Parts: sequence; C-alpha cells; structure tokens
Amino acid sequence: MCGIVGAVAERNITTILIEGLKRLEYRGYDSAGLAVYTQQGNLERRRRIGKVSELEAAVAADPLVGQLGIAHTRWATHGAPTEHNAHPHFSGQELAVVHNGIIENHEELREQLKGLGYLFSSETDTEVIVHLLHHTLKTVPDLADALKAAVKQLHGAYGLAVISVHQPDRLLAARSGSPLVIGLGHGENFLASDQLALRQVTDRFMYLEEGDIAEIRRDQVSIWDVTGAKVQRETVQYHEGAEAADKGEYRHFMLKEIHEQPTVVQRTLEGRLGKDHVLVQAFGPQAADLFAKVRNVQIVACGTSYHAGMVARYWLEELAGIPCQVEVASEFRYRKVVVQPDTLFVSISQSGETADTLAALRNAKQLGFLGSLAICNVGISSLVRESDLTLLTQAGPEIGVASTKAFTTQLVSLMLLTLSLGQVRSTLAAGVEAELVEELRRLPTRLGEALAMDAVVEKTAELFADKHHTLFLGRGAQFPVAMEGALKLKEISYIHAEAYPAGELKHGPLALVDSDMPVVTVAPNNELLEKLKSNLQEVRARGGQLIVFADQAAGMSNGEGTHVIAVPHIIDALAPILYTIPLQLLSYYVAVLKGTDVDQPRNLAKSVTVE
Ligand code: G6P
Repeated sequence: MCGIVGAVAERNITTILIEGLKRLEYRGYDSAGLAVYTQQGNLERRRRIGKVSELEAAVAADPLVGQLGIAHTRWATHGAPTEHNAHPHFSGQELAVVHNGIIENHEELREQLKGLGYLFSSETDTEVIVHLLHHTLKTVPDLADALKAAVKQLHGAYGLAVISVHQPDRLLAARSGSPLVIGLGHGENFLASDQLALRQVTDRFMYLEEGDIAEIRRDQVSIWDVTGAKVQRETVQYHEGAEAADKGEYRHFMLKEIHEQPTVVQRTLEGRLGKDHVLVQAFGPQAADLFAKVRNVQIVACGTSYHAGMVARYWLEELAGIPCQVEVASEFRYRKVVVQPDTLFVSISQSGETADTLAALRNAKQLGFLGSLAICNVGISSLVRESDLTLLTQAGPEIGVASTKAFTTQLVSLMLLTLSLGQVRSTLAAGVEAELVEELRRLPTRLGEALAMDAVVEKTAELFADKHHTLFLGRGAQFPVAMEGALKLKEISYIHAEAYPAGELKHGPLALVDSDMPVVTVAPNNELLEKLKSNLQEVRARGGQLIVFADQAAGMSNGEGTHVIAVPHIIDALAPILYTIPLQLLSYYVAVLKGTDVDQPRNLAKSVTVE
C-alpha cells in the first residue's frame, strides 16, 4: 500500500523523508521517490523501483538538500511499477504531488487536461491531480485555495501532499478516503499517511478528518474542513502503548489485538470505497480486466485464514452468484485438481510465508487458472510477490499466535472481493453494493459495540474453566465462524473444541452432549434462526449447557441451562465479522482462567514456513 511522508523545516529534510519511508515499508510497495525544494530554488526529485534503500543510495550518490519536501512509497494501481510511474509527479518544474488512493475519473480529467496542452509522462491516475492543480493556479494563485478548488473535481479516494516552487514555505495536504496525519515539531512540521513514519521526529500528532485541507508551514498549521470553514483539530500526544510491539495497557498481545479490530478494519477499508461502490482498482491495475473474466473462484489457505475463505464462499455464491470452492492448502497442493475454466485462484494468508499456501500457489500456476490473487497482511511476503494481484489486509503486525485482527481484516477484504467481482460481472442484486458499502463504513463502530461485551463474556468464561470438551454450532456463514471460535478455544486454552453445522448435530455429535459439555452457538437474527432454535432444543433435551451469542432481536432468553448473551444488531451479510469478536474474547478469558501462555500457546507457531 502507498505511503506518504512530507516535511517543512529549517534543517535538511531529506534524511527525515527517507527514514519515514523506511518506517512505512512494512505496508508493502514496489517503488519509492521523493521531491525536494532545493537551496537553488528548484524542485528536484529522485525515484527508484524496488526498495527504499535503492532510493537512499540514489540520494547518497546525487545528494538533495532542502527544507521542504515530499516522499512516497507506491503500490501500483494505475500503470506498472516503473520509475516514470513512481511518485512524486510534477507539473512542469513548478509543482510536485504524492498521492495515496484512486482517482476514478482520471481518464476524463486526463483528456480535458491534454486538451489544455498538458503533457503526461506516466500512466498513473495521480498525474491528473498535479496538472489539474497547475491549471487551477492560473486563476487562483494561492496554493491552498487552488487545492480546495481542484479537489472538488476529483472522484474517488485520496490522501495527497503538494509542494510548489512559488510558495516554498508550505506543504499542502488533502484527505478524502485515505488517512493523513500532521506531525507537530518545534519550528518544523511534518505530514504522513501513518504516524509511525514520523515517530523519529515528534510525538505530537493532529489527524486530518475526511474532506480536510491543510496548509502546513514551519511554525503554523491551518486546516479547513469539507465545507471550507477554518477548523482546529485536536493535538494528540503519542503514548508508548500504541506501538505494535508493546502490549501497552493490555495483559496480553492477544487482548490488545482483539481491541485493535475497529481501527484495523477501518484501515483495511480506507482508500478502497467510493461513494456507493468498492474501488476495484484497489486489487491492482489489471484487476478490472481480470475480474471481468472470472467465472469461478478457488480459495486456498491454512488455519484461521482457511476459515476466512469458508465465509467468503457463502458471500461469493449468495451475493455475487459466483461458484466458489475452498480448500486447505496442505490438501490442495498434493491432490490432482480439476480446474474449471476461468477460475481465479485466491490465496489467503496473514504471513504470506506459510509453506503449504505458497506451494499451492506455485502449483496453481501450472494448472491453468485464470490468474492469482493474494489476500495477505505482509506486503513484502513471498505470496504477494508471486501473485498476479494483491489486496493487503491492514491489520498491522500481529504478535499473538492465535490470529484475531488478521482474521477480521481478511473477512473485510473478502467482502471487498465479493462486491468487486459482483460489480465487474454485474451479478449483484440492485442496491446490494451501495447498502453493503454503507454498512462497511459503519462496521468499525459496530465492532466497538461488540467489544463492549468484554465484561459479560469474561464472566461467561467461568462456565468453561473446568470443562474438557466443547461443541460450537452455527448455520450458513456462521458455521465457519463457529469453526474459528472452536479453533481459538483449542489453540489457547487446550480445551477440546469441535465445530459442527448445527444441522449435523443429530448425525453424531448429539451422542456426546451432556451437562459437562458446553455448547456454544452463534445466532444472528436471520432466516436460519428458527431452524437453529430447534437444534438448540435438541441439546437442551439432553441436559446440555447452551451458551448462545444471539442478536438482540432474536427472541432468545436465559433459562435453565441456557445462557443468552446479546450481540449488537448487524446486517446479516456482515454478521460473521461481528460474531467473531465475542468468540475471540471467550477463548481469551477461558485461557486466562486456565493460566495458559495465551500469546505463545504450546506447540504452535505464528508463521508455519515448513510443511
Ligand atoms: C499458523 C498460525 C495461525 C494461522 C495459520 C495460517 O497455524 O498459528 O494463526 O492461521 O498458521 O497462517 P497464515 O499466515 O498463512 O495466515
């Protein structure tokens, strides 16, 4: 994913820009560049394909010194990863822009600007921004005013930074759908797409809100909101606890990572949603062409990532009408697979280094798939490098071995895939995409509400502390959620946990049910609820203890042997994401009660790079 760093200072800012880019490397990128207003009064840039270290070497060989500059790591969406497509983009030698996000009406703007005599030197959507701004400056000479006018013509998502030779005391920024943060120094100020990039220069930050335009000078920051009104944004002091490698106030990384989910889900959505649709280009420059040909999907993954794939099968078939198969990588890689024509191979992995998943991808390349897509949390992983398309989950580093935030961000990414395929292939029912985009925007808030169940789930965990076996039940897309709940419990509390589709209960597991075996169920208020209730009766009739996570409106209540825990209401399609949260909390608190090593459970590894 792209990254932005900017600085305006009295000292030379080149090293600050490069250090900032290095701190954003974990997000994944394919080229890097920077532009500096030099002491000679020119705008100069260096750009390189590959690592930031290559850019650093280029700057060392041919130094750039200045007090104002912008820098970028690019993850190609429009145009291949080449030096001429790398940012910053210039208009003449006067203006430089770096941009995160996707400008949807770039083709139309490009034609208009060409008509006005602008010459384009890249295939990027970004280049239209810099020429559009240049054109606007002819009639609106102030850079901030011109930027306010120019962004009104942009459709899509952007976080951008601009510098100009004509007003070299300021750095301009605009945010819409892609995050930006201002770092406040003493007599110097900074800008970045992620505060991590600026931690070496400041601990005070100001987060831009949607629609904000900022003018950042050495000793002053001015911000205008979406209506054009001048506003103040709160200054936030950074606290150590916010760092990924630090547990902060939490007792375990796992609990911290569970609580990070609203933030990382928000981050996974950022820059990928248009007004009422998903931005298909978020999957890469060739995504729209490739998706148009997809008639089937084959998903391959391991562990928790496999469960995410199983949820996606329900979504792809129900919402987008696209046939989907899901298989664990260790099976897929060793069996003779018959590939349906026009099948997209999708691998899902937190680490991007899981040996079986990687081997499955390598095999898939020989099997005649249409193309490959990696849904992955690590931008510089082998899986990403070797796949045709990538969508990075933005979960940030996950330390707890039991995966939590990686799973929910995978689910969000798979919903984006479902809507993108449905959009490109016109297989979604009318209004579905707009409604789900709206609901996805609300999802971080909903997840926050689910996290408020923490105390009640902690209390419920007491029911499990002395048990040796449990059953998890779900129906429809909640079945894989039950599987993931069972996996979490067994991974960290060492209690034997099995998941079943609730309809299978009578075909075997019912024989195990007695008062010593808690049965956990996820029960959103959907068309399968009544069927699920009947299955639960079957458990109660055998003296089984039920723990039911149910929609507030599901009409279920506590009774003897039945513990109902209310879950906030959510649209059914997104219920698998929300219902995962109480199950994660449950396994966490059971493990804490049992005194196990929550973050590093016995015998398990975070990244399984061997077969
Ligand atoms: C290990 C981890 C799991 C993870 C699985 C797949 O078993 O402990 O948390 O789900 O590997 O890993 P991946 O990185 O490919 O998602």
